[in-house]
Amino acid sequence: MINLVLFGPPGAGKGTQAFKLKEHFNLVHISTGDMLRSEIKAETKLGKEAQAIMNAGKLVPDEVVIGMIENQINENRNANGFIFDGFPRTTIQAEALDALLKKHKTSISLMLSLEVEDDELLRRLLLRGKDSGRPDDMDQTIISARIQEYNNKTAPLINYYKAQEKYCAIRGIGAVEDIFLNLVLEIERIK
Ligand code: AP5
Ligand code: MG
Repeated sequence: MINLVLFGPPGAGKGTQAFKLKEHFNLVHISTGDMLRSEIKAETKLGKEAQAIMNAGKLVPDEVVIGMIENQINENRNANGFIFDGFPRTTIQAEALDALLKKHKTSISLMLSLEVEDDELLRRLLLRGKDSGRPDDMDQTIISARIQEYNNKTAPLINYYKAQEKYCAIRGIGAVEDIFLNLVLEIERIK
């Protein structure tokens, strides 16, 4: 199995690249952000609880996203591997993911971290906010809150994966296709 963590700040291109990698390596793409937005759209209890937190640019509670990931892993037992996009975002989530994969006798193969400067993140997200309908993309203060959450709670995971010798940084600025090719090169290296 190839299990990838696609990592990076909001707007780094995780979703864009996950879609291409999923096709290329025949993996199951799991995005906690997309799953939470589906819950909001379906007006479920979970969606209603998550909505206000997401619209403020904060992280939803660990146990909520860990439960969602557990279901997805259980439902895709025959998968070739997974791309985790936007998960884990805290040390508790990273430890839970390692434990879940261990239960299935597998582990994370590589953590690919897309590196993009804050001014470019802001530019991309405001641009998308014009027609995405994502409330968290439409306001500069909320985008800044998302970046701050990333710096405070998520960026420390770089050291978590460095300690496991699974961290790999990729420059996330430039043509989508060039970034994709660099990601593929790094993944081919560990296969
Ligand atoms: P989530 O949906 O994960 O959002 P995010 O990480 O804040 O950022 P995005 O998904 O917007 O960015 P991305 O890196 O996927 O980039 P994309 O490819 O879209 O999370 C949303 C919220 O859900 C969180 O704030 C939190 O509340 C909650 N949540 C989710 N997971 C959670 C967790 N594990 N724990 C707790 N809470 C959680 O690209 C962005 C834009 O840039 C697009 O318009 C794209 O077309 C463009 N673009 C992409 N690549 C390039 C390029 N190379 N050049 C120019 N433009 C580009
Ligand atoms: Mg995304």
